[in-house]
Parts: sequence; C-alpha cells; structure tokens
Amino acid sequence: MSIQEKKQDPKPTFYLTTPIYYVNARPHLGHTYTTVAADAVARWKRMRGFDVLFLTGTDEHGQKIERSAAKAGKTPQEFAAEVSSEFRGLWDRMGLTYDDYIRTTEPRHKRGVQHLFSELRKRGFIYKGTYSGQYCVWDELYVEGSPGTPCPDCGRITETVSEENYFFKLSAFERKLLEYYEQHPDFIRPEARRNEVMAFVQGGLRDLSISRTSFNWGIPVPGDEKHVIYVWMDALANYITALGYGSKDCANFNQYWPADVHLIGKEISRFHCVYWPAFLMAAGLPLPKSIVAHGWLLFEQSKMSKSRGNIVRAETVLDVLGADALRYFLLREVTFGQDGSFSFDALVQRYNADLANGYGNLVSRTLAMIVKYFDGVVPEPADVQGLLNNLGLTPGPDDPDGWWRAAASETLADSIANEFAIHTDKFVEFFGMLDFSRALGTAQWLIANIDSVLTEIAPWKQPQGFSDDAQLATRATILYGAAEAIRIITALVYPVIPDAAAKVWQQLGLGDITQADLKDLQWGGLKPGTKLGELGPVFPRAEKEAIERMQNMEEDRVATATGEAQSATADQDAVPNSKISGPAEQPPPPHVPEPFSATGLSPEQEADAVAQQAAANRQVGPVSAVFDPLPPPQPLVGPVTSAVPREPKISIEDFAKVELRVAIVRVAERVPKADRLLRLEVDLGYEQRQIVAGIAEAYTPESLIGRKVVIVANLAPRKLRGLESNGMIVAASVGEKGKPVLAGFLEDAEIGARLK
Ligand code: ME8
Ligand code: MG
Repeated sequence: MSIQEKKQDPKPTFYLTTPIYYVNARPHLGHTYTTVAADAVARWKRMRGFDVLFLTGTDEHGQKIERSAAKAGKTPQEFAAEVSSEFRGLWDRMGLTYDDYIRTTEPRHKRGVQHLFSELRKRGFIYKGTYSGQYCVWDELYVEGSPGTPCPDCGRITETVSEENYFFKLSAFERKLLEYYEQHPDFIRPEARRNEVMAFVQGGLRDLSISRTSFNWGIPVPGDEKHVIYVWMDALANYITALGYGSKDCANFNQYWPADVHLIGKEISRFHCVYWPAFLMAAGLPLPKSIVAHGWLLFEQSKMSKSRGNIVRAETVLDVLGADALRYFLLREVTFGQDGSFSFDALVQRYNADLANGYGNLVSRTLAMIVKYFDGVVPEPADVQGLLNNLGLTPGPDDPDGWWRAAASETLADSIANEFAIHTDKFVEFFGMLDFSRALGTAQWLIANIDSVLTEIAPWKQPQGFSDDAQLATRATILYGAAEAIRIITALVYPVIPDAAAKVWQQLGLGDITQADLKDLQWGGLKPGTKLGELGPVFPRAEKEAIERMQNMEEDRVATATGEAQSATADQDAVPNSKISGPAEQPPPPHVPEPFSATGLSPEQEADAVAQQAAANRQVGPVSAVFDPLPPPQPLVGPVTSAVPREPKISIEDFAKVELRVAIVRVAERVPKADRLLRLEVDLGYEQRQIVAGIAEAYTPESLIGRKVVIVANLAPRKLRGLESNGMIVAASVGEKGKPVLAGFLEDAEIGARLK
C-alpha cells in the first residue's frame, strides 16, 4: 500500500523506524538484526489492525563517508549510491516490508534538514562560535578532552578540530530533558539504557557544534554555504523529513508523527535520547513515543562490526538456510535488549531443534496423517463422551474396545485448547513488549507439547481389540487438535517466519496468509471439512556440512574482498577492542557480553552445592567435547577444545559406568533466591525426573523448554537448595568463568538414547 492510499485509512497508526545505516560499510548481520526486528514488529502491528509506516534507509553524508569514498577512488555520490542500493537490495531479497526508504542525499531530506536548521535558528537556539577540540570521525562525535584523547565510544584517537561552527544551545535543555525522562518512564527502553542516558544528562550538557567547515560532503547551512550541517543533525532529521517535514505536503507528518518506536542499537542512544529530543523540543515538535535500544550481536566474542573485521553477511545464511532461519535465530536466540552471540553452530542447532524438528516436523507429521487417514480433509473432532454414553461404556485402560484411548485423546485435545488460550495470551504479551525470545519460547513450548501428545496417543497405531469406531474417534479428535494448534501457532509466528508461515497456511488449506485475519486466535477457528493444500517440506533438516559451507563462504568472501577489507581497516588505524554502549566519558573497560556477565554475587554467597555442580560441569566438559559430533575447533569453545586432559586415563569399563542419555526438557524454572540454579523436569522417554542445574546465568528457562540435552542418568540423587536433583546435565565449561554450554546434537537423537 502506498503512503498516499494509507491516508484514507481510518486505522490507528504505528510509525516505526530503524537507524539509517552509514554507507561506508556494506550491510552485515548487525544491520540485518535491527531491520529484521523492525520488520517483525511491523508485520505484527499490521496483523493487529494498525496502519503501519515502517521506515529505513541510509545515512550518506559526513567526513567518514567522504573519506571512505576517496579511498575507494569514487565520488561520494557514486559510492553512497552503490552501498545504499546494496542495503536496499538485501532488504528486498529478504522480503522486508519497509514502507519507505530514505536516503539522506535525496532532495526531500535536504529540504527538511535545512528547514529544521532555519527553525532552530529562528527560535534562537543556534549561535556562531568556534569549536576547538576533539572529534571522532568514526563515530562522528565531538569528544571532550585534550589532543590525543581516545574516543569514548570506539577507542580511536580523536582528531583535533578548530573551526568556526554553528552551535546548538543544548545546555538549555538539560533540565527539560531530565523532567521529560522522569515523566515518561517508557520513553527510553530498556531500563539500563534509560539510566545511562539520565546519568549522562545529569553530568551536564554543553552546547553542541552543529556544523563543520573543513569538508563539503553534507547539507549546506542555509544562507552560509561554507558550513555543512553536522551529520548527526542531518541523520536524525530523517525520521521527519521522510514524512514531508519542511515541504508543502505535511499530511504524512500530521498523520504519523510522533513516531511510536525508534528502534536502535544501544551505541547510538545518546544521539537519539538526548540530541534528537532536544532538537525537537527546540523546534516545538512532539517527541517520539519511545526509543528502544537493543544490544549487540557479537561474533567471536566482540561486537560484530566492519572495523573489527568480524562480520558475517546475511547473504551467506540466506543462501544456505533461507531468510526465515536467520530471522528466527536472531529473534529467538538473542534476548532483545541484551547482547547475544552469533555462531554458525548455534544457528544450525537452533534451526534443527526448533524449526526442522520442532515446527516443521509437527506440521508434516500432522498433515501427512490427515492425508493418510482422512483423505486430506480436516476431520471433525469426535464427541467421544456422547459415543461412550450411547454404547454404555466406561473408559478405562482395561477397556478391550480401546475407547479409553479415544477418551484420552478428547481429554488431551481439551487440555491443548486450554493451554492454547493461556499461551496465546502470553505470546501476545511478550511480543507486544518486543520480548521476541520469550514469545517464541512460548510457541516452542506449545509445539513440544503437541508433539508429545501425538506420540503418546499414537493415532497411527491400531492396538489389538481397538474397534474401528474408537480408532476413528481417536484419530479425528487428536488430529483436529494438532491441526488447529498448528493454525494458531502459525498465525502467531507469522511475523517472524513469514515465508514458512505462508507455506503452512496454504498446506492447511487456508489460502493466502497475507489476506487472513491473523488476530483470530480462538480455538476452534479451523473448520472441519477444510481440504488441505498441497503438502511439501517446510524446514528441511540442515546437515552438519551446512555449518562448514557457511564458514567457507565467509572465508572466501574475506579472502576475495580485497578493496573492502583493506579500506575497512585503513579507515582508521588502531581499533582497540573496547567499545561499550553508553555515553561514558572515560575510555571504557573491555567489553563483556551482557547475558553472561556476573551476577554480582561473590562466590561465598553461593551455596556449596552450586559450587559442586559447577565443578561437576567442569569435569564433564572434556567428555561432552569428545562425544560432540561437531568437528572441533569451534571459535566460541576455544578454552574447552584446547584443554589438555589432565585426568588419569580410565578403562572403557570405567567409562561404561557413566550412564549418559538424551533427555528432553519439559519444564524449566528459576530456583528462588539462587541466581545460578534452574529446576528442570526432563523426560527420558521411559521416565520423567527433576534435575537442578547451575546454568541459570547462561540459559533462560524458556530457552530450554523442548530442548534436548545430555544427562548423566545414574548419578546418585542429591539435594540442592532443598530440591532433589536426580541426575546432571552435561555441559562444556567455557572460558575463565566456566560458562556452561549445553551438549547437543546436530542430528536428531531420540530421547532416552544412550551415549556410548
Ligand atoms: O550509527 N549488533 O549507522 P551504522 C547489533 N548512521 N546491531 C548492530 C550491530 C551489531 N553488531 N552492528 C550494527 C549509524 N548494528 C548512524 C545511525 S540514525 C539517525 C543514524 C545496527 O551504520 C544497530 O541498529 O553504524 C546500530 O545502531 C546500527 O546498525 C548502526 O549502524
Ligand atoms: Mg556504527
């Protein structure tokens, strides 16, 4: 729908933006992460009846781009146009549903920025002065300090600038901003970013230089063309210039501004939460409703960025596993707001566990059974109680007619329906909070449950003495339940895995998902009698070599990307690995990935039992490495794979005493007052048991539910925090802190299977 058409639309509006990306670097997974998250939100909001405007684009001016272009032997215009179209091409290839794409070199933008500048000048917030101080070209940031001071954000040595500039009276907004933050607790999310920003402003705001004279690549100051407008003022204004701000047609501006969400990476919080609101206040414009800063995608343990050379291209993953796999991974694996690691192993593992063996497998087994037993038509669930009453039967396991199975299937279908009501609400709540990972964890939990119900009822079996009527009632009831569950899950996950969801929707016989009302999540919406569409695989299993293929593709790219790779490092020389998020004024300490950071508890504060568990985990580290079917060495487990065995050798008989088995986690929850402990209920197929594991710092409970793990099944039971722990989860212990990394399989391993 074009923006023009939208104007007629009476629906509530939702205006969502991503940062506009610098064109000095080609898109990598870090940019993809933000844009995919925004796309999922946009789809989610559209599906819930909003008139969404989703904006993305590229930031093309400034000294950094001018220099990168010169290095590439191109004019800034040529260079910017090339890279900008790469961004756009990637988003199109991924099917991202942005409504508008702004380039800061467009006339509509230039006009808007100049208008903003003039407004601020007219209102008395701009004056001329001289800036003498430090500037970081990489971050396009003015830095306080003497010559030689490193940039507080990226650690590069700043350049000394002494120029006549225009200044913006930022200092006049210190109190107003603080008041605004106080009065609007949701303006900056998450809390950690809000606190950082508030601390920065409380530290005092100095007036901000908003023009430069020593280079040309930018938007000229109206009436004083030797100045170009500071690139951050230029860039931030994109959020309103895209709506026609500064032009005669302000209909879109009136309709969509203020933005509902500016989605950003945490390192640009200061610009969005301090400078941008101050500019808007000065111009007398409303402020965006919220700024949501997510964490960093880490690769090989530091922030994925061109300057570190540790980037991965989205294209590599798209070629091998497809867009949905990438979208799912980014939103499921990384807790939104926190940093999270990317690795090809984790990607493939997550893909196989949740998509191939989880969702995809549930869909294919359910629909294949409907084809086999009901000719591809969704059956009507049976009224088992009615049938039983007619026959005068009481169901029970001894019932020779097998009606107990049918009755059980009805009871289970009922309980599935109840679970759905609860979990659908949870999914909606989590997604609404942009807690994608928990929302998807909920969906995964439902999938695992339906799967185990199917396995339990086994509608494909016809046990001895089981009448045809009873068999039919069982199958119809349970298969209807599974198909309806799939419909609801598919509607929920559509914003995250739109291609797969569209396929499944067709296969369910429901037609084009983009035309469907996906808000209707009531149980029973699937009409019996619906003829299934043509079946086909949704998420084929990824084989082990998928990892290698992707790794090789990335290696080849690095080897062949001569020009680019060199200009990346030549741009600015030393790049200390010290980038942190906030507006810190001191060179920050080395970055520690957030999800795994220490809790702040001293070791003494932890119960002995926890220490024992950790020690036990460390001991089994090498064991899991030996039995892991993955080829070592993997970058993230360096300390484990390089560990030389220090234990005395044991005989095979000794090893045989250890009963290692595959189990699936059914229940996972935190243990109150024990930061490191999770209480798990794992299913071995032949029995269910409780295990208390010291892995809470590395895994959220939701991420474990439905996941297959390796346990030591014959460990003597012991008590941890008053809870009986019956067995132990096998994990590698990684790094100095001994972060647990659970053992797992690339191929599907049946639960209960023994490792030997
Ligand atoms: O800052 N992890 O552009 P930029 C997560 N032009 N997100 C990442 C990431 C990573 N490793 N790497 C990049 C600019 N991003 C300015 C913005 S807005 C008015 C101007 C994402 O090309 C994340 O959204 O450096 C981050 O904020 C953005 O890309 C920075 O892109
Ligand atoms: Mg950046």
